[in-house]
Amino acid sequence: MRERYIDLIDQTYYFPQEGFDVQDDYLQFHKVDLQHLIQTFGTPLKLTYLPKIGENINKARRWFHDAFENVGYNGSYFYCYCTKSNHFSHVLNEVLKNKAHLETSSAYDIDLVRNLFKNGKIDNKIRIIANGFKPKQYTDKLLELIKDGFIHIIPILDNMMELDAYSGFDGEELSIGVRVAAEEEPNYQFYTSRLGIRFRDLIPFYIEKIKSNPKLKLRMLHFFIDSGIKDSAYYWSELNKCLNMFVELKKICPTLANINIGGGLPIRNSLGSNFDYAYVIEEIVNKIKTFCDDAGLEHPNIYTEFGSYTVGESGANIFEIIGQKKQNDSELWYMINGSLMTTVPDVWGLGQRFILLPINLWGQGYQRTIIGGLSCDVSDYYNSEVHINQVYMPKIIGDQKLYIGFFHTGAYQDSISGYGGTKHCLLPSPKQIIIDKDENGKLIYEVFAEEQSPDSMLKILGYK
Ligand SMILES: Cc1ncc(COP(=O)(O)O)c(C=O)c1O
Repeated sequence: MRERYIDLIDQTYYFPQEGFDVQDDYLQFHKVDLQHLIQTFGTPLKLTYLPKIGENINKARRWFHDAFENVGYNGSYFYCYCTKSNHFSHVLNEVLKNKAHLETSSAYDIDLVRNLFKNGKIDNKIRIIANGFKPKQYTDKLLELIKDGFIHIIPILDNMMELDAYSGFDGEELSIGVRVAAEEEPNYQFYTSRLGIRFRDLIPFYIEKIKSNPKLKLRMLHFFIDSGIKDSAYYWSELNKCLNMFVELKKICPTLANINIGGGLPIRNSLGSNFDYAYVIEEIVNKIKTFCDDAGLEHPNIYTEFGSYTVGESGANIFEIIGQKKQNDSELWYMINGSLMTTVPDVWGLGQRFILLPINLWGQGYQRTIIGGLSCDVSDYYNSEVHINQVYMPKIIGDQKLYIGFFHTGAYQDSISGYGGTKHCLLPSPKQIIIDKDENGKLIYEVFAEEQSPDSMLKILGYK
């Protein structure tokens, strides 16, 4: 009878597979002996396997390089890392060791860039794509960076008002980009992304406001399709619209030489994932080439800003099952020694699935379970995989210990859960005011804490 957990996996997926193997009933992640890790450090724990970051960066470069060769593409390819997906210094170190450029999302990101420069991790030739809806603090910091000699910074206009921040630019010339607002997938709550400029506004805006300013050079068209790069009718149709826009703009804007297709390259969220990266990338490159060839235009340089793809597959969260609760005939809870809401919050916030596997007891029988977190919140659970609306785990016999891991959790989870006081997009905690009444009923105000500073954030992230 084949009814061990390992048989279930063997029958369902190709296994072992990249990053995952079992030795003597214990799971290995990129050949790291997880049992040893647990014995050494205990649980719950979060791990980051740094070599995977460079591996993924270089794989993507290779796919683009091969696609360029296969279709005869003449532009260059630039890999930028979207810092918001994981800001930790050890991650940025690895990204920069692999010669990636950067994409920023907020003012404090520019403090991070300054810190990297001060510590010799980057020079002023690094390419920085500055995205996001930009308060004055962000545009001011960008302009200071440009003034200080960073020669390849491209602020991407998220909206038309943003131009006001640059229109009085007092240097020689300023390279800028524009982000086009993509239409969202039909199942979203709104039609058009709030990020970027409407299609119909772009060309009149360029003619009236950018072209007329001799210091401003529009060099990049940026688009990001929020649901990511997929081989789907929706993705290809959005890409076509953006490429049409590129062609129309390029006809009247000779400096437009770069196209930025954003992030969204998927990661494996199941042992059954089978995304054909090389094929999809070649299709994208071929489409850009075809649009340009048909219009008699040079091939633009292609930029990407992969966040999840760069760092997602390097991370894992490991827990121990510390108890079982059978709440009715069909629902058996495996309680972990931590919380999913506070360590992998996208599970709760977005219904995100990760690869979930036991670390040990692979030779034992299995049963259907629900994974329960320690917080009191009803939503702190995990009960379905990508392919089935169920989770199976080895049976625990007697006083056996079972450890489980959520894998490929390296992107966004730390910042969204606020690891140590960090924040999504490095947007600081606000000033906190306490309001009370004195004995006469008069309101009294006290500043409990000032707005979080860049230094406090950078310290948590390992830069100070
Ligand atoms: C402008 C922009 N670029 C890149 C990314 C990174 O996306 P991903 O992590 O899916 O690669 C995002 C994510 O929200 C984004 O908004």
